Amino acid sequence: MTQFDTIIRGGTVVTASDTILCDVGIKGEKIIALGENLTDDNANIINAEGLLVMPGGVDSHVHIDQASGPGVVMADDFDTGTLSAMCGGNTTVIPFALQEKGQTLRHAVEDYHKKAEGKSWIDHSFHIIISDPTPSALGQELPALVEDGYTSFKVYMTYEGLHLNDREIIDLLESSKRHGAFIMVHAEGYDTLRYMIEKLEGEGRTEPVGHALSRPQVVEREATHRAISLAEFIDVPMLLVHVSGREPMEQIRWAQQRGLKIFAETCPQYLLLTKDDLMKDGMDGAKYICSPPPRDPDSQEACWEGLQQGVFKIFSSDHCPFLMEGTSGKLREGNKTKFSRVANGVPGIETRLPILFSEGVKKGRIDLNEFVALGATNHAKMYGLYPEKGTIAVGSDADIAIWDADKKVTVTQDILHSSCDYTPYEGLEVTGWPVTVLSRGKVVMENGEVTGKSGHGRYLKRKKSPHAATG
Ligand code: URP
Ligand code: ZN
Ligand code: ZN
Repeated sequence: MTQFDTIIRGGTVVTASDTILCDVGIKGEKIIALGENLTDDNANIINAEGLLVMPGGVDSHVHIDQASGPGVVMADDFDTGTLSAMCGGNTTVIPFALQEKGQTLRHAVEDYHKKAEGKSWIDHSFHIIISDPTPSALGQELPALVEDGYTSFKVYMTYEGLHLNDREIIDLLESSKRHGAFIMVHAEGYDTLRYMIEKLEGEGRTEPVGHALSRPQVVEREATHRAISLAEFIDVPMLLVHVSGREPMEQIRWAQQRGLKIFAETCPQYLLLTKDDLMKDGMDGAKYICSPPPRDPDSQEACWEGLQQGVFKIFSSDHCPFLMEGTSGKLREGNKTKFSRVANGVPGIETRLPILFSEGVKKGRIDLNEFVALGATNHAKMYGLYPEKGTIAVGSDADIAIWDADKKVTVTQDILHSSCDYTPYEGLEVTGWPVTVLSRGKVVMENGEVTGKSGHGRYLKRKKSPHAATG
């Protein structure tokens, strides 16, 4: 009998805790052995000498084929979005299922299952965005959905038509505490923001940089503090998503130092972009419009500090791709589009891990084990997928990315697999790139060539987050 279907031989296996020279033995979809000199005459041998063998990335904050208002569509569906993720060394993504106002939560997830069906290249799950927290959504639907494996829910404090007020957030937190749901919060204050938008537009400041001017750090800091306070008030854990700068980071660190169960995430755009990018020629600045906006060098430094000190457990892409060309993406009114009407978000699902590796590991800011934790393991743990996902261990899914730590790549849109028409990182030189990827034992990318297929990816029902309240 064949002991192994595949052996990854001679590589340096890196997990969130260890770095060991050993072989990885795979049978079917699982890792079944780690050891020296694994052999099987019939196995497919992958030579990983001189390469790093790491868990496939888990990107737990991505937007794919998400509704974005009349006439505006995302550039990536589940085919191109997950292909792009895979080519960037990921084997699991967790996109959002957005509840439209008036829609049940169940219908929202059903819609997104239809969008993903037969299209995903890698495994996926869903968080649910709650925009209409009716008594039945919070009282009946949420507990049933948690039982069915939808164990995390996102709240916007921000966007017109989607944001929840404080009382609604309190009711959601109360329900999440009772049923063990895990709550993610987009913290930018709706009222401070509306005030700033009206003021700037009244002064004729409608160009892209107005987006950053309308959302100074105090807008994020105030909402972050308020969200933390509400979590403390109800006594429930919470994760602050896409934290952009020093002021909100310090609020989170303060809460953590007080012993509150507050978790946080940051993203590549807050390490590499600044407000100045939004000032680029003409409407080009719209490429960099995302919320919260990129800030300044001090905030970039603060985000690195947060990653190094464990304030941020999670490094996600917040991939949210909209085309620059035409009127179905960023610029719905062409070059006359006011900043407040530009679709929010930047693409980045394929560049997330290479950026963290190159800017983080290669520049000595984080070590290899921290890289794995921030890019894969902590996501799997936070969102109830561990240890099937996010690590290399006997019994785990054989979701593996083999990296060439010295491969130099210049990032340009034409080498990426997203259907977006730009990357905010055009021309960026990175060192370190995933060359071979296995998803549940199947080689889906080999030496840079795509060998997988759409439809291979599976939906993942998740356990409750180990951090969620126990009721
Ligand atoms: O600008 C962003 N971040 N767009 C994506 C939607 C969100 O708020 O995460
Ligand atoms: Zn958000
Ligand atoms: Zn997002």
